[in-house]
Amino acid sequence: IRSIGVLTSGGDSPGMNAAIRAVVRAGAFYKLKTFGIYEGYQGLIENNIHELTARTVKNILNRGGTVLKSSRSEEFRTEEGRKKAHQNLKEQNIDALVIIGGDGTFTGGHIFSQEFDLPIIGIPGTIDNDLYGTDYTIGFDTATNVVVECIDKIRDTAESHNRLFFVEVMGRDSGFIALRSALASGALDVVLPEENAPMEDLFNELEKSEANQKTNKLVVVAEGNELGDTFKIAEQVKNKFPHLESKVTILGHLQRGGSPSCLDRVLASQLGVAAIEGLLAGKSKIMAGLIDNKIVFTSFEEAINGKVPINKELIRISKILSI
Ligand code: F6P
Repeated sequence: IRSIGVLTSGGDSPGMNAAIRAVVRAGAFYKLKTFGIYEGYQGLIENNIHELTARTVKNILNRGGTVLKSSRSEEFRTEEGRKKAHQNLKEQNIDALVIIGGDGTFTGGHIFSQEFDLPIIGIPGTIDNDLYGTDYTIGFDTATNVVVECIDKIRDTAESHNRLFFVEVMGRDSGFIALRSALASGALDVVLPEENAPMEDLFNELEKSEANQKTNKLVVVAEGNELGDTFKIAEQVKNKFPHLESKVTILGHLQRGGSPSCLDRVLASQLGVAAIEGLLAGKSKIMAGLIDNKIVFTSFEEAINGKVPINKELIRISKILSI
């Protein structure tokens, strides 16, 4: 391998820039040429490819988003699109790829790698933390810190007005952001997709909090939960507890922005170097992850399809502490 391409794809996440920097600098360290592919797979199809050096990635370690930009390319899902992408790589003499993103990114990379026998290594970059083969994905720590900071602020109003707040957080169909931030912000309950708990459970928690004279009531709702839309959940609670004044806050894309936390910067740096060293060792079709502080490589298939279990112990602790 003499020359590699790096891209970010899917939803951006804080720490992606730190990963790009690590890939480019590790590449330079090992005397590889590195190319940045702009706007994800779409940029690969449109030949939006430019050389990057150790110096062009200065001052990005601390920045949110992705300097390479991102996209969700429909064209890359077609054989025709992937052929064009491969042609561009050949013309630029790029002989391996590092792809930074989530399961959609790895699904595309897996197919591409098989079709053209191209070495590809993935780096998990998503706030959702829903990839098998790593304790944390890049961006998850920053996103949960943002959520906790926001809920701390909401708590002020909840307490001042004795209000009930439903705070909806991201995570697509997984509840990792919701569970961790609920525990860290002292929420009285958390509605998770993984638990599939009935509405009665939430009613019971609210009744308990009334009996225990809690003055502020914070409920974290994961966007992909089975009870449905957060406004609808709030409406059902209103019907059952008409005396409770309730509000809904949807945190939305606030959670994806901002300067990455120290943990995300360190993780991104470790995984960026691991990706380059993995490629040089002849590895492909795998994701670099960190488990128990050790670099672990997991096949794309497993990373995408493996089920990451929700931490039942954190749910238990959360219930004990919300008494
Ligand atoms: O996968 C990251 C994520 O932020 C999810 O948590 C969320 O469901 C989705 O992306 C939102 O996507 P978009 O930015 O395209 O609205």
